[in-house]
Amino acid sequence: MSETTPASPYGTLPPASPPASRKPISLPRLNEMRARGEKITMLTAYDATFAAVADAAGVECILVGDSLGMVCQGLTSTVGVSLNDMCYHVQSVVRGIQRVQGTAWVIGDMPFGTYHESPDQAMRNATALMQAGAHMIKLEGGGWTTETVRFLVERGIPVCAHLGLTPQTVHALGGYRVQGKGEDAAATLRQHALALQDAGAAMVVLEMVPADLARSLTKELDRCATIGIGAGQGCAGQVLVMHDMLGINLGKNPKFVRNFMQGQGSVLDAMRAYVSAVKDGSFPDNTLHAW
Ligand code: KIV
Repeated sequence: MSETTPASPYGTLPPASPPASRKPISLPRLNEMRARGEKITMLTAYDATFAAVADAAGVECILVGDSLGMVCQGLTSTVGVSLNDMCYHVQSVVRGIQRVQGTAWVIGDMPFGTYHESPDQAMRNATALMQAGAHMIKLEGGGWTTETVRFLVERGIPVCAHLGLTPQTVHALGGYRVQGKGEDAAATLRQHALALQDAGAAMVVLEMVPADLARSLTKELDRCATIGIGAGQGCAGQVLVMHDMLGINLGKNPKFVRNFMQGQGSVLDAMRAYVSAVKDGSFPDNTLHAW
């Protein structure tokens, strides 16, 4: 904030100047963490203040997920989220992080219908998210997305893939169910993950995938970090939707969620508890949060 900007009475952001030990998160740093087995922490955020708090709590990656359709817009699925919505929220998150001189890596979700037609269409829409301030884009699906991922990566756009339960295709999948169960489904998921790594995806979210499959994929992928959500404790990192981990999901929490507000006095402390539980391997717990 410049010295001429009057102090705002609304929602003071955490203090600037991160501790000296915190360097900006970059792709090489995330890759080093994966290689040495340090868990990568990721949370969703959709606005400046929560993004700044997550950054201050030490969350390495902030996902501006299209789950904002549900938690911010009151939709029943992510299908109705637009590219403009995504750009607006990415800009807000990036401003929040910049205001506190934060270090987090920001990932912007490509919404439904914005990468499905062709690599050219994906490039155009990914450019909008990158220009809004994202460091990386995320898109759902395997197989047909491989060519698009290669196209984007070759043109300098870091990509996070998303396999398993892919919420944008919930209607085609018939509900929010565990994916990759059984030999054939597991083999297809594995083949998609390896192809996405070959195409240059630096991360892959594994959502609602059996823990054993996620663990073996994590060992097999040597250039792509697996980020689990309902995929057990064997992944290279973890992600949760912020509202779920703060216990403000008004519906029934999915099995893979832990309410980190319990026993904490502030959102900052809850996020710190999340970071420390992911780092020390106590969250997720395969007996409670996985299949
Ligand atoms: O949109 C989102 O928040 C996501 C996470 C659930 C991984 O894709």
